[in-house]
Amino acid sequence: MDKRENIVPLTAGRLPVDTLRRPIHDLRISVMDRCNFRCPYCMPRETFHEAYRFLKTNERLDFAELLRLARVFARAGVKKLRITGGEPLLRPNLCDLIGDLTSLPGIEDVALTTNGMLLAKYATELKAAGLSRITVSLDTLDPEIFARMSGGFGGVAEVLEGIEHARRAGLAPIKVNTVVQRGVNDHTLLDLLAYFRGTGVIVRFIEYMDVGTRNHWNPALVVPSKELAARIHERWPIQPREREYRGEVAERHAFEDGMGEIGFISSVSQPFCGDCSRARISSDGSFYTCLFATHGVDLRGPLRAGATDEELYELIRGVWSGRSDRYSELRASMRGTADLHKVEMNYIGG
Ligand SMILES: C[S@@+](CC[C@H](N)C(=O)[O-])C[C@H]1O[C@@H](n2cnc3c(N)ncnc32)[C@H](O)[C@@H]1O
Ligand code: SF4
Repeated sequence: MDKRENIVPLTAGRLPVDTLRRPIHDLRISVMDRCNFRCPYCMPRETFHEAYRFLKTNERLDFAELLRLARVFARAGVKKLRITGGEPLLRPNLCDLIGDLTSLPGIEDVALTTNGMLLAKYATELKAAGLSRITVSLDTLDPEIFARMSGGFGGVAEVLEGIEHARRAGLAPIKVNTVVQRGVNDHTLLDLLAYFRGTGVIVRFIEYMDVGTRNHWNPALVVPSKELAARIHERWPIQPREREYRGEVAERHAFEDGMGEIGFISSVSQPFCGDCSRARISSDGSFYTCLFATHGVDLRGPLRAGATDEELYELIRGVWSGRSDRYSELRASMRGTADLHKVEMNYIGG
């Protein structure tokens, strides 16, 4: 038997929990640090310029390595995988990886977050590979504001076409992620909702977050979800819905007229660290236990040095068991701390 397969099946009672008793349920895998957009809130052009040194191909985990890690994480309790980046659809042959991930024992759900530019091209292939769901980022329908928020790349029409292809391919549900910035796109959000209401597409508004260190985050640009919900409620009354599961990130609301639902992701105004069961792997194989982490634990080194699954499992279990992150809850007191070199979002994945 392959030594790497030699791992003792774990019972639910032995699955790792962290110091705050949080299990590990979700794994976000950044498959690509590059992106075809330069959203100023994520990859501002002045930092991610033409001479920026992205990872070389051999520095990124290859598909066999990603698959192995996903399998080990599944044994630690992970049931849901989200493929992200950078822009994941820039990773060559991504559908092959998705096909393999969807057949892993213990994995119940594989989802993808994309800026949608390449979705028209890949939607059918993604569905055929077994992808369950897709999230498309779209901040506004206004072409000029879109250009400002994408760093001048792509266009509304292409993203909407991508969403349409995803719908026709049968990827469901389709969610739209909208980062909200005061004075930038917040006055265009009712138009965005008017477009998607009644189509089955679920729009989720994300409070602008202080991920990384390069996006010049300014709390004055954050529109608290409560304020946005009140604005929406004035136009189309909405009602909060029950959470579907512990650790659900978005607070769901339904339109009272039956035209579907929307979500609010309020990491700044209502931190949800208490239920956070998400682990992350960066494109070069570092393991992060928080989106706002300053340090990751290298898994690529041990993988390439021949570690067994059991050794990788023990490494992951040890890191998770020692986890105490709750950055969003501590944000106010931690900001400005000199040594806060938070990892960038394109690298760790959103
Ligand atoms: C980092 S992106 C990666 C996947 C893909 N490129 C995309 O844009 O969907 C994942 C998600 O993070 C969101 N995001 C990036 N920077 C953010 C920030 N500073 N605050 C809130 N959300 C952010 C994006 O809007 C996107 O929905
Ligand atoms: S949010 Fe997504 S599309 Fe925008 S720069 Fe970041 S990785 Fe690229």
